[in-house]
Amino acid sequence: MLDEKVAQLINTQINKEFYSAYLYLGFSTWFSDQGLEGFANWYQIQAQEERDHAMLFLEYLQNNGGRPVLEAIDRPDQDFSGAREVLAAGEKHEHYVTGLINTIYAAAAEQKDFRTMQFLDWFVKEQGEEEKNAGDLLKKWDLFGADPRALYMLDNEMSSRTYSAPSLTL
Ligand code: FEO
Repeated sequence: MLDEKVAQLINTQINKEFYSAYLYLGFSTWFSDQGLEGFANWYQIQAQEERDHAMLFLEYLQNNGGRPVLEAIDRPDQDFSGAREVLAAGEKHEHYVTGLINTIYAAAAEQKDFRTMQFLDWFVKEQGEEEKNAGDLLKKWDLFGADPRALYMLDNEMSSRTYSAPSLTL
């Protein structure tokens, strides 16, 4: 049985991950509207991964005696002045999510809840990758975003991202 605080934090995380999916879906539609279909594809796949994260938290809660309570998902910001603002918002959001994961981890550690810590290990690693991806995208934009030919190639590169299910199974 999960500690009440740990269970509550995991329940909140379900919502945060669905919000992440919603946020990135908004990014995807914004880029599509700009004609950057590669970026739109990249964020649509990111949204899919976030839905997977939400479902992993939901299933973990269910498998450990908790009852998921689904909350309303906030409306994500979709009014951006340019691509750099979108990419920077993505990077900032991933740092925020890392903080949320760390908070759950700290609560689980305090309770000596080793099972939850082990479950969260995957997310700790995943957040490292997601922060790096978001930071790399921003760097690429700063290097190539102003050159139409380079941007065309970058957008093509972004279109090659394909979905694969998370390596974590419960
Ligand atoms: Fe589910 Fe991008 O963190």
